[in-house]
Amino acid sequence: KEKIIIDCDPGSDDALAIILALYSGKLDLKAVCSVTGNGALDTTTRNGLNILSLCGREDIPLYRGSAVALDQKQPETVSAFGDDGLGGFAHTIASDKKEEDQNAVDFLVEYVNGHPKEITLFAIGPCTNIAHAIRKSPDFAGNLKRLIIMGGAKYTGNMSPVAEYNFWADPMAAHEVLMSGIQDVTMIGLDVTNKIALDGSMREILRMLNTKLSTFVYNITQEGMDENWRSRRKAVSPMHDVLTVAYFLDNSIVKLKPAYIDVVTEGIARGQSIVDIGGHWNENKCNAKYAYDVDVVKFYKLFYKEIFNEDIT
Ligand code: BDR
Ligand code: CA
Repeated sequence: KEKIIIDCDPGSDDALAIILALYSGKLDLKAVCSVTGNGALDTTTRNGLNILSLCGREDIPLYRGSAVALDQKQPETVSAFGDDGLGGFAHTIASDKKEEDQNAVDFLVEYVNGHPKEITLFAIGPCTNIAHAIRKSPDFAGNLKRLIIMGGAKYTGNMSPVAEYNFWADPMAAHEVLMSGIQDVTMIGLDVTNKIALDGSMREILRMLNTKLSTFVYNITQEGMDENWRSRRKAVSPMHDVLTVAYFLDNSIVKLKPAYIDVVTEGIARGQSIVDIGGHWNENKCNAKYAYDVDVVKFYKLFYKEIFNEDIT
């Protein structure tokens, strides 16, 4: 089984990423790290602990990460999934699970350096913890096997016309991570994650399955749908982060192109990812793979099969 660590800001879609990773039974989730994002750090940390308990995996450690961005400023939290990050349903999975004493940055450095080229890291919140780990240890970037990021986009944004939330919340961190020389980086951004947003009929399946888990997933995706309707007149719930894990389980779900990607750290385009797939920069050198297309049907088949053991047509 591939050893993975999920660095996240749960968050309904982060919750789904963790749930898919665990229910697939195909991945060895070594730890979860928390960061500010879909709520203050206390909220995302508590949600992470409760999600692990919900999945019956209290044995998996959770490390509390960074409250503020690299510039020491408090990033604006997102309200896409309501005040508690889980659409008003965080209390339904309350548990006694405790976080670890060590902080996420020290854990990442120690664990990744202790397991060189073994760990695939999922960055599905702002990249702050990972950037700190890179600053702290000169070996960290080289010791990672893979980094799969949910963040950025080539053609769109959700916090500004050009900036996606995770990169916008800590653009300097995203920039430093992309420039760090990690060997195998995949950026799965809004260009593809917007396409897998959960629509009414896909969501209805969750209600009809009528299990504890399907009801929880049904519930935590309601607020995202309401919020999208209020702000964009779209009746779909965001699923962004879960696509990173789905892609890892089945590479054919997402199509990738080699690219050179950097992030704008200041000014009107702050948080924008510039994705060069034309070889304009750096004499055709690439620092990442950019996700430009997704097989939505394949994604949903995998999602329902792996989590609920249901074959949907
Ligand atoms: C990203 O921002 C967060 O709200 C989501 O969890 C996802 O990681 C999408 O822009
Ligand atoms: Ca997230």
